[in-house]
Amino acid sequence: MGSSVRPFICAANWKMNKTPKEAASFMKELSLSWPEDTDKEVIVFPPSLCWREVRDGVRDLPVTWGLQNAYPEKSGAFTGELSMSMLAEIGGQNVLVGHSERRSYFHEGAEFLAAKVKAAQEEKLVPMLCVGETLDEREAGETNQVITQQLEEGLASVDGSRVFHIAYEPVWAIGTGQVATAEIAQEAHAVLRGKLQKLFGKEVAEKTALLYGGSVKAKNASELSRRPDIDGFLIGGASLNPSDFLEIIKVS
Ligand code: PGA
Repeated sequence: MGSSVRPFICAANWKMNKTPKEAASFMKELSLSWPEDTDKEVIVFPPSLCWREVRDGVRDLPVTWGLQNAYPEKSGAFTGELSMSMLAEIGGQNVLVGHSERRSYFHEGAEFLAAKVKAAQEEKLVPMLCVGETLDEREAGETNQVITQQLEEGLASVDGSRVFHIAYEPVWAIGTGQVATAEIAQEAHAVLRGKLQKLFGKEVAEKTALLYGGSVKAKNASELSRRPDIDGFLIGGASLNPSDFLEIIKVS
């Protein structure tokens, strides 16, 4: 749905799924079944290796793409990494930062994430900073404190005058089938928008898209999308199949 000032964003996070061939076939199907009348902004985050298939696939669609990860330094001895400038050069426009899987499996900490946000903006990319509490933190009543702290730390060096996106992804809802209720998600989003306002003022808080992520499916997307502070979805499992992904785009 989206508010009048913010377009609604549907973003696909494929994680470590799809070979280049599979990515090409997804993009073909997406293009064939594209709903011409949609007003959604769509972003695809493929595995880095599939960038060419996704770039070629979005050529005739109002869709942007980016990587799930990029390194904050411009170049140098960082074996296995890709830089923000490399991403910018090949036409990517977005980059995920601080997904909970990167925070937990790859031990990415606050300063490093803030450096990524800054480096992304310096290359004119749009960073999507992910924040979210674990089940233990929610049960201990620490949700608001955890997510506002992750927000503040991740945005420590952000340029508020340039676009950035936030994704609220409660860790207990990611890949578990246990979606946050629309009330829970709206409450967290309102807290995050309030924090954005404190940090950057009303204008930035009002124009910044806050996406929800964690077991979004076509069957729960419609209700979630009707909440005033839910401006989009970051979709993992249900973005792997073009018809599931398109259905979410249609019902949101
Ligand atoms: P999920 O993943 O939709 O499979 O829960 C969301 C994400 O991790 O971005």
